[in-house]
Amino acid sequence: MPTYEAFEEWASVDVESMRSYLQNVWDIQPETQSDHPAPFPPKLAEVAIKLYSLPREIIGDPFLGSATTIERAQALNRKGVGYENMDAESEDSPDFVDMIKNRTGANSATLDQFG
Ligand SMILES: C[S@@+](CC[C@H](N)C(=O)[O-])C[C@H]1O[C@@H](n2cnc3c(N)ncnc32)[C@H](O)[C@@H]1O
Repeated sequence: MPTYEAFEEWASVDVESMRSYLQNVWDIQPETQSDHPAPFPPKLAEVAIKLYSLPREIIGDPFLGSATTIERAQALNRKGVGYENMDAESEDSPDFVDMIKNRTGANSATLDQFG
């Protein structure tokens, strides 16, 4: 039978540090190093991933954005699938796609674009 410590290491979860997230309100500081008016804190995704999934499971993000959630999922040994409806013809699109590729390691085989 695996030890408690082995489970924590396998699941990338330090159970003691997660106790404060077993409450109705999560205290997570906002990101401060971003120009975005409402930056998405990676910690928010990380806590949800740790609480509701196990390694090798798939995290789906229907609002991919800058792929923070998928990047955190991969860092925690999960797999990620994301969807984003940004206009592929928009002038920002190539930079956006490159940024997602860089953050997630997605390549043209795994990053399908439609439209
Ligand atoms: C706040 S960002 C999401 C942040 C993201 N979850 C992360 O982890 O970085 C919201 C994104 O949802 C996208 N979006 C809005 N409506 C959508 C839809 N119907 N389908 C897919 N993506 C959508 C927006 O273009 C925007 O990039």
